[in-house]
Amino acid sequence: MRKSIKIFSAAIMLTAMMIAACNGPQRHDENKYLSQGKTIATETFNALSSELKAALARGGVPEAISYCNIQAMPITDSLSKLYNADIKRTSLNIRNPMNAPDSLELAILNEYQRKFENGDSLHPQILPVGENKVLFTAPIMVKPLCLNCHGEIGKQIQDTSYAIIRKHYPEDQATGYKAGDLRGMWSIRFNTEDE
Ligand code: HEC
Repeated sequence: MRKSIKIFSAAIMLTAMMIAACNGPQRHDENKYLSQGKTIATETFNALSSELKAALARGGVPEAISYCNIQAMPITDSLSKLYNADIKRTSLNIRNPMNAPDSLELAILNEYQRKFENGDSLHPQILPVGENKVLFTAPIMVKPLCLNCHGEIGKQIQDTSYAIIRKHYPEDQATGYKAGDLRGMWSIRFNTEDE
């Protein structure tokens, strides 16, 4: 009896160790992609904010309008090469149709929105997709600076500025936000093939 308990507990220990060993590297990768995702989001956001500020100071919204396009920023290119990742921002209310969410992103956005409305805190997260990709997402919140182009039309966004925005983005839905609102999310796909 004693002996069989010993064997039994040894078997459990072994199983636990095997599970730990299998989970070990995976956990490690998750942390790696989580921290890389945060780095990319922070660096891109900082570059974006300073370019927006400078352009707004130079010539207001007409001057700054092209600076909220992260795909047009050199830092996006260099970070995506460095980390072997596709960097994108998306939203439930998009300005550029090219930034529209796919079905997985839509589900995550809806979840972030639901949490935001509940007053829950929103966190970056990692999700394996398919065999060779890991998806990092993180919420993007509205800062006072953003209201120049995403606030209320006729109030924070001057009518003349909005006319310019509308000309470039006829299907724009990204207005009416307040500071502290959830604007959208980062969607960063890491390619894990080469590991
Ligand atoms: C000078 C005007 C301007 C300011 C200020 C501005 N944006 Fe934008 N925003 C735009 C334009 C124009 C686009 C469309 C960019 C594109 O073509 O990808 C955009 C797109 C976005 C998108 C991508 C999703 C979509 O709707 O297409 C997000 C997210 C976003 N802005 C968040 C912000 C945040 C957060 C701030 C404040 C830190 C901010 N924006 C400040 C003009 C602005």
